[in-house]
Amino acid sequence: MGVIMKKEVPVSKANRLINSGNVIMVTSHYKDKSNIITIAWQTPVSIKPPALAIAVGKERFSLELIKKSGEFIVNIPNWDLLEPMLFCGTHSGRDIDKFKETKLTPEKAEKLIKTPRIKECIGSIECSVIDSIEVGDHIIFFGEILYAEAEEDLFKDGVWDTARAELIYHCGGTCFMKSSEYTKI
Ligand SMILES: Cc1cc2nc3c(=O)[nH]c(=O)nc-3n(C[C@H](O)[C@H](O)[C@H](O)COP(=O)(O)O)c2cc1C
Repeated sequence: MGVIMKKEVPVSKANRLINSGNVIMVTSHYKDKSNIITIAWQTPVSIKPPALAIAVGKERFSLELIKKSGEFIVNIPNWDLLEPMLFCGTHSGRDIDKFKETKLTPEKAEKLIKTPRIKECIGSIECSVIDSIEVGDHIIFFGEILYAEAEEDLFKDGVWDTARAELIYHCGGTCFMKSSEYTKI
């Protein structure tokens, strides 16, 4: 390997050096409101019990709904849903109904009674909030996983067939990449 020349990255952009997992669309519901928020900052955090975490900005409408209901659903979009994913990441549900605007279909979940999942997504993970912490301008919700499902054609031998599933990854700003073929070692 040649000489590696490094340059300083502003701390405000350092998060872009550690891309998180695939972009997800989180649904929430409280009283008569259902909402969808696009989230790039997510991670699994526990196997026993199965749990994951999402970082939700303090000014997001979704924050209120998740706080009040204590539940959320992680929906997994693929490349086909790039446009509605962007829409849900750039418009607040405070003013509009994102299901109506995007024409995505709310579908009854398996375990959660009220929060709908998104029919067009290739997978979903139903979560009950077990904890939350405040970190700067975001709240991290820890969700225990109650039920999960994935498109059978695309999730094989316990992993996404990444070449065909075409998961969306966020590099930062308006840059995205599509998952490609994995290497089995
Ligand atoms: C690709 C992408 C990734 C995003 N990731 C996050 C995230 O991890 N956390 C967050 O709070 N907002 C994130 N956002 C911004 C929210 O999706 C956006 O502010 C949305 O309009 C909030 O909707 P709401 O007010 O209806 O909850 C992201 C937006 C995009 C386009």
